[in-house]
Amino acid sequence: MTILENISLKEYNTFGVDCYAKRFVSITSFYQLQQVLKKEQDLFLISGGSNMLLTKDIDTLVAFINIKGISIDREYEDSVHLTVNAGENWHEFVLWCISQDFGGLENLSLIPGNVGTCPIQNIGAYGVEVKDTITTVEALDIETGKRITFSNTECGFGYRNSIFKNEAKGKYILTAVSFRLTKKKHQLNTSYGAIETALQEQGISSPTIKNISAAVIAIRQSKLPDPKEIGNSGSFFKNPVISTKQFLELQKNNPTIPSYKISETETKVPAGWLVEQCGFKGKRFGDAGVHEKQALVLVNYGNASGIEIYNLAKKIQQTVFDTFNIPLEIEVNII
Ligand code: EPU
Repeated sequence: MTILENISLKEYNTFGVDCYAKRFVSITSFYQLQQVLKKEQDLFLISGGSNMLLTKDIDTLVAFINIKGISIDREYEDSVHLTVNAGENWHEFVLWCISQDFGGLENLSLIPGNVGTCPIQNIGAYGVEVKDTITTVEALDIETGKRITFSNTECGFGYRNSIFKNEAKGKYILTAVSFRLTKKKHQLNTSYGAIETALQEQGISSPTIKNISAAVIAIRQSKLPDPKEIGNSGSFFKNPVISTKQFLELQKNNPTIPSYKISETETKVPAGWLVEQCGFKGKRFGDAGVHEKQALVLVNYGNASGIEIYNLAKKIQQTVFDTFNIPLEIEVNII
């Protein structure tokens, strides 16, 4: 385990922001992580780097969670239980599941990031959230240095949310995630409009999980920028939930506003729509910008600093608030 000095983090964050780590260590096992924690009080964790915006250099030791490995714990006729270490790339893991005909994650194809961080924000897309397949999450308790296991319920999952973003924040390092996937009788979720359309266009009436994964990949590639080409962190803002009363008022002047009913009193509206209405879609300010096909995604065209991107985000929040009286919450971690 070597500690490196003055390492650029550009390759370690999907926004491609060029901030530096004073000291950097790549962690490849649970044991190594325990050893590092015995010597260092304060660690800055980095994994897939897909949900963070770096606005400054990091003075504390940066620990790159690079623990690999997938194991099959139990197999039944209809289901399989897997444990996947935190450093596995999410999309490669999903593709591996599809190749084994293990169902449940196909709608979550092509989401950037690593397995270890998927529970933190309960990644979700096209009608599926990762909480639907997670059985347990394994972590290292920073205070005791011991292994701890959280059940699905203990993770307190919600929309883009979990205890790891709230009361458990900063207390644990997630090291592995266990999933229960289907081997037969896959529970297909094709209700999301764009998936239905993509399958219809291909003349597929009884899709396999492979067909669904391929449709999701095609939809995401058509709408979302590939971080390898243009730096980004996926959805920058959460979709806000507003009172149905406020929504009905808004709808009077904006009859085309898309919405999703949460309850009788609450309605979710797409942040992308709000940002687009405020004229930001496709706009560029230096190397920071708003993606031309999905206004929810902020992008780095090359050399934008984290501060420039953050300033753009604040400008968008202010304009959306002034126009619609709706506060937009940032989904990405600002460092
Ligand atoms: N819309 C616009 N303008 C835009 C973007 C969207 O008018 O620039 C409208 C669309 O026309 C549509 C509605 O907003 O009527 C919803 O758009 P979309 O289906 O693209 O989904 P979203 O709500 O914008 C969410 C997730 C995405 C996920 C998609 C698909 C959040 C914050 N984002 O986006 O997640 O892929 O649904 O399920 O919930 C991510 O988290 O990084 C991410 C990409």
